[in-house]
Amino acid sequence: MRAGIIGSGAYVPKKIISNFDLEKIVDTSNQWISERTGILYRRKADDNICSSDLGAEAAKIALKNANLNPEDIDLIIAASSSPDRIFPATACLIQNKIGAKNAAAFDIQAACTGFIYAVTTAAQYISTGLYKNILVVGCEVLSKITDFKDRNTCVLFGDGAGAVILSEVDYGGIITNILGADGSGSELLELPAGGTSEPASFDTVKERKHYIKMRGCEVFKFAVRVLEDCTRKIAEKANVSLKDIDYIIPHQANIRIIEAAIKRLEYPCERVVVNLNKYGNMSSASIPVALHEAYQTGKIKRGHKIILVGFGAGLTWGANLIEWTL
Ligand code: COA
Repeated sequence: MRAGIIGSGAYVPKKIISNFDLEKIVDTSNQWISERTGILYRRKADDNICSSDLGAEAAKIALKNANLNPEDIDLIIAASSSPDRIFPATACLIQNKIGAKNAAAFDIQAACTGFIYAVTTAAQYISTGLYKNILVVGCEVLSKITDFKDRNTCVLFGDGAGAVILSEVDYGGIITNILGADGSGSELLELPAGGTSEPASFDTVKERKHYIKMRGCEVFKFAVRVLEDCTRKIAEKANVSLKDIDYIIPHQANIRIIEAAIKRLEYPCERVVVNLNKYGNMSSASIPVALHEAYQTGKIKRGHKIILVGFGAGLTWGANLIEWTL
């Protein structure tokens, strides 16, 4: 049995933060941010909103587009780098918020690669026949774990959520997947405190260790390398030439990362889906939001072959090659 995407959804908060807004908070400029990252705007959730709230909104849209009711969902897999709490799982909170009372629910932690890991996992449950309809959600309120005193990171991230429903399909579907990890690079991008290695204390708060820390230059090089490698490898694994891939949807971290990898792949840049100018890096939500928008605006059509490819903290990376069903 082949799993395929039968509906998608996306939801971003209304509040827009421009580069000019950030100029007033840290020592930066619109010119530096736009030239070095390609980002112009990002969204910011209100103080009372958490990741499961955005995830639930995206999930409701995906359910509507798939013509399913919440009760039809057998399993929810949520990916988030900014979960509501360490436990319970954000997937359980989403389950409650949308009323998916028949669904099992758990989270996947693979940072910005979370959506790719979650889709890969969901596809296995469908192909074994264990579950019929699975909701996969990538949801983030990164603004609450971003240090707005650190210009190296605060210009990069934004809030949002994307969701897809996977079911058995008789046309198209997920052709193959690649996942990878290298834990030796775990310190390149991390949220140091609040877990069991450094529990929350007055010191961890004083040292701002509950915010994202990143070694930007090293992450940049890693990202370009795995974006190229992973895209090439998944096409080879599926025995498909990159010429026959209609769209690549990469993780939306930095336009220079995407351009460098795409140049090495000798792939036409007009067939790469980019929305980071509007939203910045929404971690696990970046790829599903870009996918949803590409389908809604008529770019992606039935029969198109697309590669979703991501990378992130862990370090982690991965890709899904999909023949579009809808
Ligand atoms: N505004 C102005 N100047 C800034 C700045 C900002 N927001 N952020 C950093 N700078 C400065 C640095 O302090 C440095 O100054 P210095 O030379 O006086 O020390 C200078 O700009 C260049 O910094 P550098 O780190 O070399 O810039 P860069 O071209 O590598 O771009 C990133 C920095 C963070 C944009 C880039 O490394 C990047 O995108 N890395 C990957 C990040 C990422 O994708 N993370 C998520 C992965 S899922």
